[in-house]
Amino acid sequence: MRILVTGGAGFIGSHVVEGYLAAGHEVAVIDNLSTGRRANVPRGAALFEVDIHARETERIFAEFRPEVVNHHAAQSSVKVSTEDPVHDMEVNGAGTARIIELAARYGARKVIYASSGGTVYGQPEILPVPEDHPIRPLSPYGVSKYAGELYVQWGARAFGLDYTILRYGNAYGPRQDPTGEAGVVAIFIGRMLSGQPCIIDGDGLQQKDYLYVGDIVRANLLALERGSGAVLNIGTGRGTNVLEIFRAVEAAVGGPAAYEHGPPRPGDVRAVWLDVRRAEELLGWRAEVSLEEGIARTAAWFREQRALTPPGTTPRG
Ligand SMILES: NC(=O)c1ccc[n+]([C@@H]2O[C@H](COP(=O)([O-])OP(=O)(O)OC[C@H]3O[C@@H](n4cnc5c(N)ncnc54)[C@H](O)[C@@H]3O)[C@@H](O)[C@H]2O)c1
Repeated sequence: MRILVTGGAGFIGSHVVEGYLAAGHEVAVIDNLSTGRRANVPRGAALFEVDIHARETERIFAEFRPEVVNHHAAQSSVKVSTEDPVHDMEVNGAGTARIIELAARYGARKVIYASSGGTVYGQPEILPVPEDHPIRPLSPYGVSKYAGELYVQWGARAFGLDYTILRYGNAYGPRQDPTGEAGVVAIFIGRMLSGQPCIIDGDGLQQKDYLYVGDIVRANLLALERGSGAVLNIGTGRGTNVLEIFRAVEAAVGGPAAYEHGPPRPGDVRAVWLDVRRAEELLGWRAEVSLEEGIARTAAWFREQRALTPPGTTPRG
């Protein structure tokens, strides 16, 4: 199958590309490398370094003619969204509208859209939170990711484009940026490996649904054929707090490690974990990698990267 992955140079997108290539699909990537890296794009995928808003993007659709468009490109930071909500909506809302228009114009069959189960519901009234819970985001990022969902569903009504919307929990795994503000697992591993104390935002008792990236890849593989017209939570169904993550990372890195408390984050959700029964039923998917195993794999990857990168050099590029 010909699959176009937007954001395929980013953390999650690059793993999805790898999964599709391994399953024998032909993959092209569109990414402007704003947070993604050329080095993340697996060998075997064609990388087009363009912005989803650029004129060039239409030419890529016209030439590659994807059967499936897997849309992972996004402004992916809650913090940036609170600082610049207009930019956030331009990329995540308007950018998705553009991708839907092009997917329809050039004959794609289906769009798979990466949404955010950790932010669109806001602070859920019910836990684990089901997909039909009211949408009440606490951050502009949650608003824009949901706007993207609405454009995907508009694409189905206006053009007959099939879709699956995957609302991920908090993803972690190899290639996540340890210097960013998202991704507490990567940040803690990075700080522990360089002997720095970890900063725990607020009291550290905020709970999220942490999901290993390999499990996300399997959901994206299954969504090629299943989950037609569905909105699906993709998570473990369990909440873990930041102090527990700290302890798990400490064990994987080989502790002991130190931490300090910082201020709580604006727009952060206090407790969210996802009801994943619908994904089980419609995709035949459930998370398989335990937190301990996922963190151990992630720590091993970061250790290997440090061994490959001499001190003082930057692994970006
Ligand atoms: N990481 C998580 O926990 C999580 C949770 C829920 C949903 N998501 C969603 O999954 C997707 C991937 O997230 P990630 O964590 O891998 O983030 P990421 O920042 O690593 O990936 C986003 C990619 O999109 C690219 N990009 C950004 N703006 C672009 C533009 N205008 N044109 C072309 N490319 C552009 C970036 O360069 C980057 O490679 C995003 O849609 C995000 O909203 C992530």
